[in-house]
Amino acid sequence: MLIEFSAPALPTTGTLILPIGQDKVFGPAAEEADRLSGGAVRRALAASRFTGKKDETLELLAPTGLALARLLLVGLGKPEALTAESFETLAGNASAYITRTGETEAVLALGLPAGCRLSPATAGAAAGLGAALRSYRFDRYRTTETAEQKPSLARLIIQVTEPEAAAAAFAALEPVLAGVTLTRDLVSEPANQLTPIVFAERCRALAALGLEVTVLDEAAMRALNMGALLGVAQGSANPPRLVSLLWRGDPEATDQRPLALVGKGVTFDSGGISIKGAGGMEDMKWDMAGAGTVAGVMRLLAGRKARVNVVGVLGLVENMPSGTAQRPGDVVTSASGKTIEIINTDAEGRLVLADALWYAEETFKPQQIIDLATLTGAILIALGSEYAGLFTTCDTLAERLTAAGKAVAEPVWRMPLSDLLDKDLASDIADMKNTGSGRNGGSIIGAMFVKRFVGDVPWAHLDIAGMVWSKKDTGTVPKGGTGYGVRLLDRFISDTYEGQASSKVCS
Ligand code: BES
Ligand code: MN
Ligand code: ZN
Repeated sequence: MLIEFSAPALPTTGTLILPIGQDKVFGPAAEEADRLSGGAVRRALAASRFTGKKDETLELLAPTGLALARLLLVGLGKPEALTAESFETLAGNASAYITRTGETEAVLALGLPAGCRLSPATAGAAAGLGAALRSYRFDRYRTTETAEQKPSLARLIIQVTEPEAAAAAFAALEPVLAGVTLTRDLVSEPANQLTPIVFAERCRALAALGLEVTVLDEAAMRALNMGALLGVAQGSANPPRLVSLLWRGDPEATDQRPLALVGKGVTFDSGGISIKGAGGMEDMKWDMAGAGTVAGVMRLLAGRKARVNVVGVLGLVENMPSGTAQRPGDVVTSASGKTIEIINTDAEGRLVLADALWYAEETFKPQQIIDLATLTGAILIALGSEYAGLFTTCDTLAERLTAAGKAVAEPVWRMPLSDLLDKDLASDIADMKNTGSGRNGGSIIGAMFVKRFVGDVPWAHLDIAGMVWSKKDTGTVPKGGTGYGVRLLDRFISDTYEGQASSKVCS
């Protein structure tokens, strides 16, 4: 969808999206539309329950006195409560509505009500981003769609009082769009298409943006004794890869150690020999979303030439049952030297992270580590799809990640670590088992396992299993791969490492 900015000028044809403030507060465009239509807008309001509350909509077709085909009134809510996210959501929902009508063009007359704290440029750019994010579609495998089934809206013109400034602010958000889009594309790909090798190749293409890309193949990982990751991979015909994406955006930093982002990239999780049930197993194509998110964040940082040093490490494997697959009862030796008794081959993400975290720490000596993983089904039981689970040894990391999540509407909720549950990982034969003895506290046990592979570096673990795939459309996110986490980490990074706040997170 093409997004353009222009100065307010009431269109006389086509589709007009008109925001209305809480308690039927009209901006200049709404007043003009009402006047030109001989009061049709106010009459329509009187005939409905629409009062301008956030998320309310009211559609007027062919209003008298105007040559407009369609007028879509959308509620703005209270002006003091308006944030960038409000405009993202408003434009996302309105454009999604219009795109189902057959209209190819629409004007959003974005007059800001008195009391709104945002500048017209910020609000306009946010609206553009929201519409662009919502218009995402993964349609590369559709071949028979008719024109009626395709989204119709091709051009959205956002009218604001500062159109040049809004266009510039929107252009500055292009890397955000590119990062989220990359993550959604990766998460949406089926596992026969996105094998670890293909995923690594897509990462290699990011070198064009100035990222230093390294790809370890199976032999290289064997040389580093990555028995935990390789044990997961050994049942699959698709060999594993370990990718690192290094962004050196701040060569003058006093502390040259990067922030490390480590992602679980299980391109398909069948469960292995501890095979999953058939129902919903197709969802496990998105078990690589942790790695997909890290790739998207690195794409974003490089795209906006962030003044930070960050490395992304992606553990890419497929978990399959076969004659060569690892068995329950097997003992593997991780790169750290710690041995693991495999109790359940479906608890594979933590095994991948064990070696990826060790590699990140050994190779890049990071100042902080954040890992992202669709690690446990239990996090869905605990937090649903409202929050990602955050586990961390560092209160400052917890505060900063929580604040960043709030700011971009990608919330996290801090969960506890537990030494008592950690004891449940004790094995009779090896240094640890890969699962606890029961189902209770599953996400905490997963986090405790991962923690065993992190040294003295401040660390946070995000269990994003509930967040990366959506079964329904919402404001800026069409159903499917959400791209969750990309904007969260970008905001965390800009606030922590590029802002006023000291980058000393914990020691
Ligand atoms: N990839 C799954 C977790 C998952 C489940 C993600 C549902 C998204 C939706 C993970 O590898 C897994 O299978 N975890 C097991 C752990 C158990 C065997 C200790 C789980 O959650 O059941
Ligand atoms: Mn699993
Ligand atoms: Zn998994």
